[in-house]
Amino acid sequence: MSANREQFGSRLGFILAAAGSAVGIGNLVGFPVAAAKNGGGAFLLIYALFVVFICLPVMLAEISIGRHTQHAPMSAFRSLSSGHKGWTAGGFLALLTPYMIAVFYTVITIWLFGYLFETLSGNLDKLADPAYFGAFINTNDIFWYLIAVNAIVYFILFSGVKDGIEKGAKIMMPALFVMLILLVGFVLTLDNAFAGVRYYIVPDFSKINASVINTALSQAFFSLSLGMGIMITYGSYMQRDDDLPGSAKFVAFTDTAVAFCAGLLIMPAIFSFNPDIDTAELSDSSVGLIFTFLPKIFLALQANIGYGGASAVASIFFLLVFFAAITSLVSITEVPNSAIMGSMKYSRKKSLSMLAVSVLVFSILCIYSFGRADWLTSFMSYGGANKSFFDVIIDVFYDTVLPLNGLLSCLLVLFHWKRANFHRELERGAPNYRHSFLERYVDVSLTTFIPVILLVIFLNTVAYKYFGVSFIG
Ligand code: PHE
Repeated sequence: MSANREQFGSRLGFILAAAGSAVGIGNLVGFPVAAAKNGGGAFLLIYALFVVFICLPVMLAEISIGRHTQHAPMSAFRSLSSGHKGWTAGGFLALLTPYMIAVFYTVITIWLFGYLFETLSGNLDKLADPAYFGAFINTNDIFWYLIAVNAIVYFILFSGVKDGIEKGAKIMMPALFVMLILLVGFVLTLDNAFAGVRYYIVPDFSKINASVINTALSQAFFSLSLGMGIMITYGSYMQRDDDLPGSAKFVAFTDTAVAFCAGLLIMPAIFSFNPDIDTAELSDSSVGLIFTFLPKIFLALQANIGYGGASAVASIFFLLVFFAAITSLVSITEVPNSAIMGSMKYSRKKSLSMLAVSVLVFSILCIYSFGRADWLTSFMSYGGANKSFFDVIIDVFYDTVLPLNGLLSCLLVLFHWKRANFHRELERGAPNYRHSFLERYVDVSLTTFIPVILLVIFLNTVAYKYFGVSFIG
């Protein structure tokens, strides 16, 4: 345990940084579409239940593993299992996952930056052309955007936990909340906005089936940045006497509230653009929605508020998503950074420089996998489709492995750390947690059904994604 490990300066700092990580593209775009397609209010209800009853206990497990061990994932696993090789391998997975997610998330953030730049330059009309995105990702401007995004992310990280990550979150998160509220207020004044709200909120329980339940849980899991090593790492920077359960509840609430509000932004905008839309037509992919569908909607606003007004709304939207992406990217890059600093005893500067170069190389491979290089564009083939290098990273690390990592954290707590020690860590700084309903609930759920559910979700995703079969609908 290192005496001079960096720390967040305050409880609020931890909360904003962790919420900054959790609030990402998944909340702002993925969640509204998933809700609209899968039964509106019925989906919202199931999602909220999953956040409280399944994700919150896992989040408590991850943050407390970090705070107790004062380590990033791999060393945390090693330390709690007293050096057991199998568990250290599990910890390695919890480290490799954020590294690979950092790679593809960098690429998406670069695109966001490019779109923000173009809207600010008055080119919204170009972005609204459906053919634009395909050409944009293969322009050489991408490399400039790559440099700009990395400069921002590494500038924040170079400044350290308190003066970089925490300060960045303290600026960007409130700005994000304000922009979100402004945009929601604006779209609700549009014609047909309430048709969108109705579609989003009125429950349709007939749409709920096993696969929708699976979608809701997976969405909740990655929206809260679980299974990515982030909560372990940020937990290790949390002050020892801060109220851990209270902070985790706050992070989960903020993340869910932002996702809910994002629906109040996206759905009315879509319905105002096309009141007869069949939501089944909406693409499942957040990327398709952000980069091809939404620019069209923003441009259509020019009928009401002129081209300048439409560009302003689009710019605020892209800035909002960009901030959400940057705070997430910072958190996920800090995981391998913290691991390198801890295990190799490198300075922050040296460790980040190494990381920057290697993430850059992988990001460039991704950039080349959209047609520039054939071997990267058709990198593998499974589940009946050809997959690019970029697709493979998303499928494996974002879509498949997260529940497995979450499961490993739960099992580590149960079999090595032991429940009594786990609860003792949670009670530090939170005397009310002791003997509370939450404590009893966390104890029972983590020892019984949560590990089973995570295992089922993981196995089902593997079966469905790679072999085209699903055993839960
Ligand atoms: N919670 C983030 C989201 O909803 C997930 C994420 C976190 C992705 C960190 C990448 C990095 O988008």
